[in-house]
Amino acid sequence: MNTGFDKQSAAFKKFFNGTGNMKTIKVGMIGFGTIGTGVAKILTQNKDVITKRLGAAVELVKVADLDITTDRGIKLAPDVLTTSAAAVVDHPDINVLIELIGGYDPAKKFLLQAIERGKHVVTANKALLAKHGDEIFSAVAQKRVSLGFEASIGGAIPIVRSVREAFVANRIQSIEGIVNGTANYILSKMSDENCGFDVALKEAQQKGFAEADPTFDVEGIDSAHKIAVLTRIAYGTSVAFDDITVAGISSITSEDIACAREFGCRIKLLAISKYDGRAIDIRVHPTMIPVAHPMANVNGVLNAIHVRDDLMGENILIGHGAGALPTGSAVVGDVVEIARNILAGVGKRIPAASFQSEEIRAVPLKGIREIESEYFLRFNVLDKPGVLSTLSGILGSHSISIESMIQRRRAGSGEGVPLVMMCHKASEKNIQSALEKIEQLDAVCEKPNLIRVEK
Ligand code: HSE
Repeated sequence: MNTGFDKQSAAFKKFFNGTGNMKTIKVGMIGFGTIGTGVAKILTQNKDVITKRLGAAVELVKVADLDITTDRGIKLAPDVLTTSAAAVVDHPDINVLIELIGGYDPAKKFLLQAIERGKHVVTANKALLAKHGDEIFSAVAQKRVSLGFEASIGGAIPIVRSVREAFVANRIQSIEGIVNGTANYILSKMSDENCGFDVALKEAQQKGFAEADPTFDVEGIDSAHKIAVLTRIAYGTSVAFDDITVAGISSITSEDIACAREFGCRIKLLAISKYDGRAIDIRVHPTMIPVAHPMANVNGVLNAIHVRDDLMGENILIGHGAGALPTGSAVVGDVVEIARNILAGVGKRIPAASFQSEEIRAVPLKGIREIESEYFLRFNVLDKPGVLSTLSGILGSHSISIESMIQRRRAGSGEGVPLVMMCHKASEKNIQSALEKIEQLDAVCEKPNLIRVEK
């Protein structure tokens, strides 16, 4: 069997001269955008520190991109740049291929081709791993090559390495995170400057934090990709991406942010994955968290990932989740780890999916109506006798207990007034049926708003 690391193999011998001294690890890259430029800069500008730590050189021998004329502020030898991805995938000397084009196709095709040719692969492509993870992880296991994807979640935060290596003995119970810097920037700005979503988004776009089309970031899809991949490595299961409940932040108003503050909370877009040993509760949605929680104070473009398990209790990792150099450093970290394996002549040391392939189990996902949570509810109601008692009666008859409540002054010119409440833990099914009933009342002026609370 070709392990790609066999000391007798031609591939291994290529790295060493006859005396056993190491030579150079050859790397190819597809995609020379923001992260690709970061990777090229790191491999050039930090070459000395990499070489001192690795004991070998890492050389970028081919870089493919459709645009090879834009000045990216980094000089590569003229024969390195190519517009042909095949020139990288088929390059006989390249042992590690970095995929940074993003999206599903042709990224998937290039990755699978590289794996098929026995190359180790590194990617930052969470969308691809979330949707087509089964195919990619099983191809990697079959060909006994390495797959690095640290850069796909939380940029520079070493969460994949932590789960796969540092927490190897730990039964992970939950992973929750702020894993989208764009959404976190917008929510932080709305909170700090009391502005609406549109204003905050526009500024994020002007500053280059948000894409021209921000849908994936603000609607929670990017966060869902990341929590799907984390769920796979945390519990040893695959996740049907389309079954994840996903809600974004575009419906969050400055009124919600102000109410959260009054209840001693902040609103964050959280990606949540909890495993009770039977089923996985996986979802992405705006969430209220108490200001005293460390994640409530992770602001701007920063990311944070909170892990709970049976051994260490809680652990929070905070850092830059995006950007050329933070994300590029995660890519290079993966490349160097693979290079170390090559140099040591070992392979398949750490399973890509964190668990041995034969140990991967199908675990059912909980539907959103099966979860329990605490809830913040916002109603817009007529300010007249009996309305509050009708509302609380409906909630009470659904076993929903109110923890605290505030009736705010009329906002704007509408006839209703905001009535907001924090409820004790209740079942989502009960909350949804109570809200359906409440929405029908004549005294209720608009669809009630719900935000889940995590403490
Ligand atoms: N678009 C992501 C974010 C970074 O805003 O955090 C890449 O995963």
